[in-house]
Amino acid sequence: MGLAYRFALAGHEILIGSRSASRAEAAAAEIVARAEGLRVQGGANEDVARDGDLIVLSVPYEAQAASVPALADVCASKVVVVTDVPLEFKNKRPIMLDVPEGSATEQAQTLLPRSRVAGAFQNLGAKKLWDSDSALDQDVLVCADNEEAKRVTMELAEEIRGVRAVDAGPLASARVVEAITVLLIGINMRYTSTTGVRIIGI
Ligand SMILES: NC(=O)c1ccc[n+]([C@@H]2O[C@H](COP(=O)([O-])OP(=O)(O)OC[C@H]3O[C@@H](n4cnc5c(N)ncnc54)[C@H](OP(=O)(O)O)[C@@H]3O)[C@@H](O)[C@H]2O)c1
Repeated sequence: MGLAYRFALAGHEILIGSRSASRAEAAAAEIVARAEGLRVQGGANEDVARDGDLIVLSVPYEAQAASVPALADVCASKVVVVTDVPLEFKNKRPIMLDVPEGSATEQAQTLLPRSRVAGAFQNLGAKKLWDSDSALDQDVLVCADNEEAKRVTMELAEEIRGVRAVDAGPLASARVVEAITVLLIGINMRYTSTTGVRIIGI
C-alpha cells in the first residue's frame, strides 16, 4: 500500500494485485481517496501482472515459493522488483531465515526465470511510506544482474520524495540488503524509532 501510494503520487498508473480481486479493489479505493488525481485500480494477481509494465512483488517470504510460479508466464521478459525479506519473529525478536537460493530476491529470480529481477525497497518501512507524503531522507539499495532492470528500478526509487537510489551491485547483494532490514527492525524495537539506510561518502 505504501509503495503503491508513493508511486501513484509520482504520477504512475498503479494496478494492485491480490488473491482476491475484491480485496485489491478495496485497497485501490483506499489509496485513491487519499489525494486528488491518483490512478489506482485493483484486480487478481495474474490479471494485474499480465497488464503491468513493471511488477513489484511484495508478499511474505513464506508465500513466494507457492504463489509466484503461477505468474511466471505473465511476468516473462518484464522487470520484477522484489521487496521481500525472509524473516520471522522468535521471542519477539526478528530472525533471518535461511534461503536455499541465498536471498528472497534470488529465489524470486529462480521462480521467474524469464523475468529480469531486481531487489529494492527492502529497507523502507511501510508505515513511513503510507502515513504521509513527506520526504523520506533515505537511500534505496538496488541490486540486479540485468543492467536495464537495475536502471529502471533506480529511476523508480528516486520518484519517491527524499529517496536516493544506490547501485548495490548484483542480485546476490540482496542477501546483505535483506539482512539490513532485520537489523533495522531490531534497532527500531530497541529505540522505539523508524530507522533507514543512508550511505555516506559516494
Ligand atoms: N511492511 C514493511 O514495512 C516492509 C518493509 C520492507 C520489506 N517488507 C517485505 O515486503 C513483503 C511484504 O510486506 P507486507 O508488510 O506488505 O506483508 P503483508 O501485508 O503480510 O503481505 C502483503 C500481501 O501479500 C499477500 N499474501 C499474504 N499471504 C500470502 C500467501 N500465502 N500467498 C500469496 N499472497 C499472500 C496478501 O495479499 P492478499 O491476501 O490480498 O492476496 C498481503 O496483503 C514482505 O516480504 C516483507 O518482509 C515489508
